[in-house]
Amino acid sequence: MTLLDELHAEHEVIEQVAGAFLTYAATPAAARSRDDGAAFLRFFTLYANHFHHAREEDTLFVALRDRAGLPADRGPIATMIADHERMAGLLAGLASCLERRADAEARFLESATAYVHALWHHIDAENSVLFPECEPRLRRNGVTELQSRPMTADERHALSEGQALVARYPPPANPDVMRGEGCIMCPAFGVTCRGLEHEWWNEWEWDEFDDRMSGA
Ligand SMILES: [Fe+2]
Ligand SMILES: [Fe+2]
Repeated sequence: MTLLDELHAEHEVIEQVAGAFLTYAATPAAARSRDDGAAFLRFFTLYANHFHHAREEDTLFVALRDRAGLPADRGPIATMIADHERMAGLLAGLASCLERRADAEARFLESATAYVHALWHHIDAENSVLFPECEPRLRRNGVTELQSRPMTADERHALSEGQALVARYPPPANPDVMRGEGCIMCPAFGVTCRGLEHEWWNEWEWDEFDDRMSGA
């Protein structure tokens, strides 16, 4: 499905720019360019939030709810939407740190790290759990493609600024964070989401699973 391929490709860019942002945040304040800080914020606001997260919510998640009959008020979709909201809040905090840079130095690196790690965990959850489940579930309901919208000029500009920032601030080779695949790596697992199987599987999927486990 074209939309899923696009969202996957967008994750790769967002992941890279997030890594570059860690490098930027670890640069001593006196050597940090304010313009670059503003360009990072534009990338995360316009490209990650307004373009990428918005298309997930208004196109993909809506189709999963309305056409594949999956719940959006709990489980993986609700978890992903809550992540988007939480990350938007973290980003707003970062914007105010950058504005008041003198008195907010210590908090900036901490807040930037929290934001980047949240973004990476979110991307891992979508890549390894949510996205692979979308296509077969939509196809079973007769949906093979989803119409999305093209990037606006501002979003495209934010993307090219983000790509330039990756070249200027190479992401750390071994970031200090545990990453991985599957529900078990998701901070929401067992808290607000019981895991994909318990949230999304229908009766016949459980029957099939039981048959496989019993060797039938
Ligand atoms: Fe997302
Ligand atoms: Fe995403």
